Amino acid sequence: MMLRPAEISNADRYRLLIGTVLPRPIAWVSSLDAEGRPNLAPFSYFTVACSDPMTLLFCPQMPAATGRAKDTLPNVRERPEFVVNICDESTVEAMNATSAPLPPGRSEFEHAGVAPAESVTVFVPRVAAAPVAYECRLQRIVDVGEGPGSGSVVFGEVLCVHIRDALWVDGKVPLEGLRPVGRLAGNAYARVTDVFELRRPD
Ligand SMILES: Cc1cc2nc3c(=O)[nH]c(=O)nc-3n(C[C@H](O)[C@H](O)[C@H](O)COP(=O)(O)O)c2cc1C
Repeated sequence: MMLRPAEISNADRYRLLIGTVLPRPIAWVSSLDAEGRPNLAPFSYFTVACSDPMTLLFCPQMPAATGRAKDTLPNVRERPEFVVNICDESTVEAMNATSAPLPPGRSEFEHAGVAPAESVTVFVPRVAAAPVAYECRLQRIVDVGEGPGSGSVVFGEVLCVHIRDALWVDGKVPLEGLRPVGRLAGNAYARVTDVFELRRPD
């Protein structure tokens, strides 16, 4: 079968992407709005850009249903900093609760009962229970497309990393201690429980 993006619906393009580009890690992003009110939301269009400068990226989409940008995007445009909190098995339900479409200015920290912790290099609070939290300064935003279905790529330079002591051992992260979760399609998630190794060619 061959499908051309121009000949299928946006809903089909979306379902193809989320059903085939997976499992996706989850950035649990905290930000502040113009009045300094905290916001927290998960984004699974998320990855590493590079390690020098240490840079992460995530992508808020413009939902076709509302045609209105998600709160996180205007927040980071207005106050150019955010925290990428890593979501693990113990926080996955709270993370999901923070994806509720609350009105702008209403805190998902409060809504989902997520305890905040003070950050060191940014004003944005981080998630106290997150095993890892990356304090970031906005590096740039690249808008892709326009209107419903479009997206923006938000790059953040990491200024400070909070990581549980037990997760940084001799310069490595023991995976069994992190217990990350990955997003699949629909409401499905994956644990990382079946790991195998493959040596790279010399
Ligand atoms: C696990 C998970 C991953 C998500 N990933 C994305 C994503 O990558 N991009 C996006 O626009 N929305 C994503 N969403 C939906 C947003 O989290 C949701 O629209 C949220 O209300 C946005 O919050 P905000 O308006 O406070 O920024 C995801 C939801 C969940 C539960």
